[in-house]
Amino acid sequence: MKVLIAGGRGRVGAKVADALEARGVEVVSGGLDDGVDYLAGTGVAEALEGVDTIINVLNTGRFDKDGAVGFFEGSTRTLTTEGLRAGVTHHILLSIVGVGEGDASDVGYYLGKVAQERAVKAGGIPYTIVRSTQFQSYIGVLADQHTVDGTVLAPRDYIQPVDLDELVALLVEVTLEAQPRGEVEIAGPERFHLDDLLRGTLAASGDPRPVVTVESAGTIDAMVPRGAYRVGTVLFPLRDIPVAH
Ligand SMILES: NC(=O)c1ccc[n+]([C@@H]2O[C@H](COP(=O)([O-])OP(=O)(O)OC[C@H]3O[C@@H](n4cnc5c(N)ncnc54)[C@H](OP(=O)(O)O)[C@@H]3O)[C@@H](O)[C@H]2O)c1
Repeated sequence: MKVLIAGGRGRVGAKVADALEARGVEVVSGGLDDGVDYLAGTGVAEALEGVDTIINVLNTGRFDKDGAVGFFEGSTRTLTTEGLRAGVTHHILLSIVGVGEGDASDVGYYLGKVAQERAVKAGGIPYTIVRSTQFQSYIGVLADQHTVDGTVLAPRDYIQPVDLDELVALLVEVTLEAQPRGEVEIAGPERFHLDDLLRGTLAASGDPRPVVTVESAGTIDAMVPRGAYRVGTVLFPLRDIPVAH
């Protein structure tokens, strides 16, 4: 087995690379720092030589619709076109719970992930789309994204964050199994309300930003799995935040 990790030096990609290499799998990292650019199309064919499995953990800082859709769709099309040419038999994509077809809210980044999933499905390579909830270690960043003029604006939507290592373990399992599964989802063992989770997380780190509960832009369960999913076992590290019922 030879695996190309598209985004192999990123936050998720680097962990997946280490875990696969520890199991003796040959791994190629394909990111900008490796001289591979999926938007420009440079270095891609070389990176895919002899590869049978792609793990797509690319990411962009663009949160606007045009930027996010352009990045996720364009990079994925390059990967599938060049991957087919190279004889790749399994395309594994890391996506997000709540961005299935017809599911995503009107957020530009999420619409980019919808377009990415669609490009994987249309790309012709048998695929596994692993949809994860937010990583537990990412909740601080989520607070930043919800901050307007020093105040965190958060709805009481459900959120069920997962431990990043458990998500990495699932990606490794799907890779080694080498049997495309279609779509699978993973979430942590506890469900919270987003406003409670951000309030508790900021308080625990001594962050003075107030968290104000606002009306939800979509449905309360937009960020949590609604069908069958892998349940992580690692509890959220802060233990005094009320769970949602
Ligand atoms: N954060 C969450 O809670 C969460 C939850 C579920 C799913 N996800 C998904 O997880 C995925 C990975 O996130 P992450 O935090 O690991 O991302 P990250 O740390 O930002 O890494 C992104 C990678 O993409 C590479 N890249 C960007 N543009 C490229 C281009 N044009 N050509 C080639 N490589 C390019 C970067 O290469 P360089 O390193 O060389 O710049 C980097 O290795 C994302 O798709 C995200 O939607 C995240």
